[in-house]
Amino acid sequence: MRHDFVEKNIGLMIVLTLVAMSFGGLAQVVPLFFLQSTTTPIEGLKPLPALVLEGRDIYIREGCHVCHTQMIRPFRSETERYGHYTVAGEQVYEHPFLWGSKRTGPDLARVGARYSDEWHRAHLYNPRDVVPLSNMPGFPWLFENIVSGEDTAAKMTALRIVGVPYADTDIANAAAPFAGGDVKEIDALVAYLQQLGTLIKQKR
Ligand code: HEC
Repeated sequence: MRHDFVEKNIGLMIVLTLVAMSFGGLAQVVPLFFLQSTTTPIEGLKPLPALVLEGRDIYIREGCHVCHTQMIRPFRSETERYGHYTVAGEQVYEHPFLWGSKRTGPDLARVGARYSDEWHRAHLYNPRDVVPLSNMPGFPWLFENIVSGEDTAAKMTALRIVGVPYADTDIANAAAPFAGGDVKEIDALVAYLQQLGTLIKQKR
């Protein structure tokens, strides 16, 4: 009888279906918040320093994550090419995470220290100067724009609220690297790229 009632009231049926389905989702997702391996930072993981943090924001602003993932899956085809698969403990301070979902270009999770700073600068200015068939766009304005650093302390304070352990001294000195007024956006972006994934030793 009662089941009849539900089946004849499509609105109620939709709501109850969603409630029933959410149990499956909860059973999968909720335990991850309590598992040590997904919530404990790996050894040596530190909050990003000011210059690198600004570089990360430039990476987001320019949409690098739309063409590049930062998530090496645990398959042989991926680990042979990119190095050790991505582990949760590397990502605990990532807000927002930049796993991405589409690889127009290669995964960048462990690109740190793979190329020289000069290579990155040449590549970001005009990718075809170093990779002739590349269809990645150039980002020449990064070589002109200055990073002011005036928001860096506020960014660190916001990240601290969501659990990134910035110290008071980090926040107090956040603007110091930019004080000379000569830090270009390209410097920050390359500093960001050069540390990606380097805590876990690369295979190649
Ligand atoms: C329209 C898609 C697209 C966008 C946007 C893009 N890339 Fe790329 N990227 C590519 C492609 C395709 C390649 C492979 C060819 C090459 O090396 O240039 C590549 C290669 C790279 C490589 C070399 C990786 C390796 O392992 O050889 C780096 C580093 C890189 N991109 C960084 C960036 C950064 C930083 C940004 C944002 C400022 C960015 N890309 C934006 C498509 C893109």
